[in-house]
Amino acid sequence: MGKRILTGLKPTGELHLGNYFGAIQQIVAMQEGGEEVFLFVADLHALTGLSDREVHRRDEQEQLFSTFVRSFTALGIDPNRVMIYRQSDFPQITELAWIFACMVKMPFLTIGHAYKDAVQKGSEPSVGTFLYPALMAADILLPDAAVVPVGKDQVQHIEITREFARRFHRLTGTDYFTEPEERAEDQMTVPGIDGEKMSKSYRNTIPIFGSEEVIRQQIQSIKTDSTPAGEPIDPATCLICTYLKLMLSEKEYLAREDQCRSGGVTYKELKDQLADAYLAYFAKAREQYQKTEGDGEYVDRILEKNRDTLNTLFSDRLHEAKRLLGLVS
Ligand code: TRP
Repeated sequence: MGKRILTGLKPTGELHLGNYFGAIQQIVAMQEGGEEVFLFVADLHALTGLSDREVHRRDEQEQLFSTFVRSFTALGIDPNRVMIYRQSDFPQITELAWIFACMVKMPFLTIGHAYKDAVQKGSEPSVGTFLYPALMAADILLPDAAVVPVGKDQVQHIEITREFARRFHRLTGTDYFTEPEERAEDQMTVPGIDGEKMSKSYRNTIPIFGSEEVIRQQIQSIKTDSTPAGEPIDPATCLICTYLKLMLSEKEYLAREDQCRSGGVTYKELKDQLADAYLAYFAKAREQYQKTEGDGEYVDRILEKNRDTLNTLFSDRLHEAKRLLGLVS
């Protein structure tokens, strides 16, 4: 077994194509490579907007969470090999985050990009947004992760995490925490149907488990230019082609490119082809997802299986961190 790998995903809604190619596929590959992977749902990180929203209903949160876990496993993540858990189930993480927050001065966190972006946009960030990197450092350092697969937008948070570890080490004269490394290079950024980065907050996603109707609708609304029927389509700038490339074998895809270049296909036809390819590509996952739909205990069983192991690990490591700081004996 190699170094422990860990990553967290915010439960923002239904999983979409960007999540799959940007994160899930890599996790499945690491699992298949026999690596030790921790995968958690960062539900506390998803709370940073609480001051602006009216309600965060528990049942909706539960729903969102179990949808997420069922999506992971339907897409090939094996809960017997990957340690799946929910951040908020382990208060040891937030306790360490608080200790980290007390270990640094304010200016250290004002560079955090989530906070900086919010300030620049003129909105008033919550204190949670400000502390976001401290919680993330605790997420990573408490389980002793060595490698953290993240999107490029998260690399700064891993740098800040290393800095938290160093400060802890300077304070205690130890090297207790592993300084984690990000693994950002194999994360793909998938464009949304409007050409921007695919993201729930931009409403430009194609869901994986939505109804066939919604999937087809989203695919029909992919942005295209005004090339008239019969004219050649340039695959390099055609968004539909970008998706087709992900769904098809190289041979099949190249045949589509030829069709585009020869003017032998319209955008409408290309979209229909994509919709079929999309549904075929995710057919197994969609079927698997359906199977867990009616099993109310499916997600609980996964959480329960990991609870004791994680509680012991996190409590022991938190205790040792506090002991090194002189907070407990
Ligand atoms: N901040 C990450 C994101 O928005 C989610 C996250 C929270 C995370 N804690 C983490 C990712 C720890 C990796 C490791 O995508």
